[in-house]
Amino acid sequence: MNKRSLSPQTLLGPVPAALISCGRPGGEFNIITLAWVGVVNSTPPMVSISIRPSRHSHAMIRETGEFVVNIAATDQVDLADGCGTISGRDRDKFKYFGLTPAKGVLKYAPLIEECPLNLECVVEQALELPSHTLFIGKVIAVHADAAILDEKNRLDFKRFQPLGFCGGSYLAASPLELSLGYSLKKK
Ligand SMILES: Cc1cc2nc3c(=O)[nH]c(=O)nc-3n(C[C@H](O)[C@H](O)[C@H](O)COP(=O)(O)O)c2cc1C
Repeated sequence: MNKRSLSPQTLLGPVPAALISCGRPGGEFNIITLAWVGVVNSTPPMVSISIRPSRHSHAMIRETGEFVVNIAATDQVDLADGCGTISGRDRDKFKYFGLTPAKGVLKYAPLIEECPLNLECVVEQALELPSHTLFIGKVIAVHADAAILDEKNRLDFKRFQPLGFCGGSYLAASPLELSLGYSLKKK
């Protein structure tokens, strides 16, 4: 390999270009596209999202302690880009993009009905980092379109291509059709 030194940067990818929905008392809903989304704990299941304090969604999530991670499919890239370039301060993104806010178990944050996978989360911790707030959320409910699941209710990546992002570009991950531990079975 012929390695080049690059500037320090967060070149981890692909990460999901996820649509995070939130709400507040009075019935205001919003959506923000986030790529800084990660898995941080297994029992209980926990995920992290990292948001700049200047975002409209930041105050809503701070206020209610709730958010939903909605995973978009690659054919929803227009939505991800749109929800990540306009602010809820200026437009109701549910109405603007023709999306349906659906009631899950959370009090204020709705699911995005049109996204095939939804993780409802309650904030457990918030960590102020230099540019972003890292919210750690416990996943308290998950909803998945039956069309993206196999007969054992596992995600079937032949039927579902989640939208990814890295280094400023949108990506489509294609399945290798190799399962965890497959290399040991070959020996
Ligand atoms: C692909 C993509 C990924 C993004 N990831 C993040 C992120 O991880 N954190 C963040 O604060 N903003 C991120 N943004 C920017 C916000 O989505 C954008 O500023 C949005 O318009 C804020 O909406 P709001 O003001 O309604 O909350 C991303 C935008 C795009 C298009």
